[in-house]
Amino acid sequence: MADRPDAPTWLGDRFEVTVGPVAHGGHCVARHEGRVVFVRHALPGERVVVAVTEDRHPGYCRADAVEVLDASPDRVERPCPYSGPGKCGGCDWQHVAPEAQRRLKGDVVTEQFARLAGMDVSLDVEELPGGPLRWRSRARFAVDRAGRPGLRPHRSREVVVLDDCPITVEPAVEAVLGRRWDGAGAVDVAVDSVGGVTTTTLDRRGHPQSTRVVRPTGAASSAATGSRAERKAWHRDWQVEGTGFWQVHPAAADALVGAVAGFAGVRPGERVLDLYAGAGLFGGSLAPGVGPDGQVICVESDAGACAAASDNLSDLPQAEVWQGDVDAEGLTDLLAELDGPPDVVVLDPPRSGAGREVSAVLADTRARAVVYVACDPASLARDVAVFAEAGWRLTGLRAYDAFPMTAHVECVALLEPAAG
Ligand SMILES: C[S@@+](CC[C@H](N)C(=O)[O-])C[C@H]1O[C@@H](n2cnc3c(N)ncnc32)[C@H](O)[C@@H]1O
Repeated sequence: MADRPDAPTWLGDRFEVTVGPVAHGGHCVARHEGRVVFVRHALPGERVVVAVTEDRHPGYCRADAVEVLDASPDRVERPCPYSGPGKCGGCDWQHVAPEAQRRLKGDVVTEQFARLAGMDVSLDVEELPGGPLRWRSRARFAVDRAGRPGLRPHRSREVVVLDDCPITVEPAVEAVLGRRWDGAGAVDVAVDSVGGVTTTTLDRRGHPQSTRVVRPTGAASSAATGSRAERKAWHRDWQVEGTGFWQVHPAAADALVGAVAGFAGVRPGERVLDLYAGAGLFGGSLAPGVGPDGQVICVESDAGACAAASDNLSDLPQAEVWQGDVDAEGLTDLLAELDGPPDVVVLDPPRSGAGREVSAVLADTRARAVVYVACDPASLARDVAVFAEAGWRLTGLRAYDAFPMTAHVECVALLEPAAG
């Protein structure tokens, strides 16, 4: 190990630990001989034998629980035969009862806000309908050199060949797994709200090769054409680029729009910014609330998503789509072009979050509310801290179990400027 040159590596060693609290990233924290051990496949309070899988840092190593000596009451049989130490790395919490998974995710959100924003938050992670399996409507499967599809073990480039993935919806499994994808490095698959299945192959560098759309018989009434898929949310039909961004869990779009609309509380005549807008889900859902005298501006960098958003919002003259990057400079220019400050800003950035600079620009607006949708509580907590430093208050926080069996959690935060 580079930073402890004289210390023997623990890689491959086995020893007993008592497992401590859950941490961000799908593992729990334990200690052994003064070092932190990040343990996967364990639960807080358990006594386990671990096998060290990675030892590259002076302060910590990574390990899998390979034998459970004293099990947590939250431990269950894994529903997926491919999951477990050294196997498929797609899920983190297959060995945990679903209600306990939600408790763990809530603990992670609390811990991230305490550590990165100095804030004391506690919350219940809300369950989405449909159960913990067969929810994944959009997935990327890796393809091995023999053309066989599967998923990678945790922190590995190997491919575990799969015949099934029990968290993925069946039409996606049938379209991809158990087949040969010679010449591809990965396959993206998405199943839309009317059963249309889009597959896109990618080469070994991640560049798209070809896309195939199969629409169910009798779907002639579907509005989607070409490589577009059709999604339904918030009483509207949405067109999305086939495997382009849309919430993965079939119930997530409705749940998130409900949370965003509740926090935003838009009023007729208001101006709303929807940043990182994708196909316009949040902007299009809030537009009826601002009415014909209001304005909704959706900002998105991807050309295909912008084209879909423009079509999706074509019946809402108060809504417009601006293609561009949300960065500090672009956002400052955009704000300068408006007739006045936005009343409400909704932002739903990728995993890395909006970042400190964009958050600082937003905290400088005179918006009455910022609604921040985040799939990584660490990025969210880091950015909320920027708003807090600028005098804003975190006045609402909801979280959803939009990714059962995995450590991921989707949060929606409401930020308001402190009075006065
Ligand atoms: C998490 S998705 C949210 C999409 C949409 N809000 C939804 O729920 O369907 C993030 C979106 O941000 C876009 N994006 C990523 N980086 C961006 C940037 N710097 N500026 C503008 N859009 C960006 C992506 O193309 C993607 O559509």
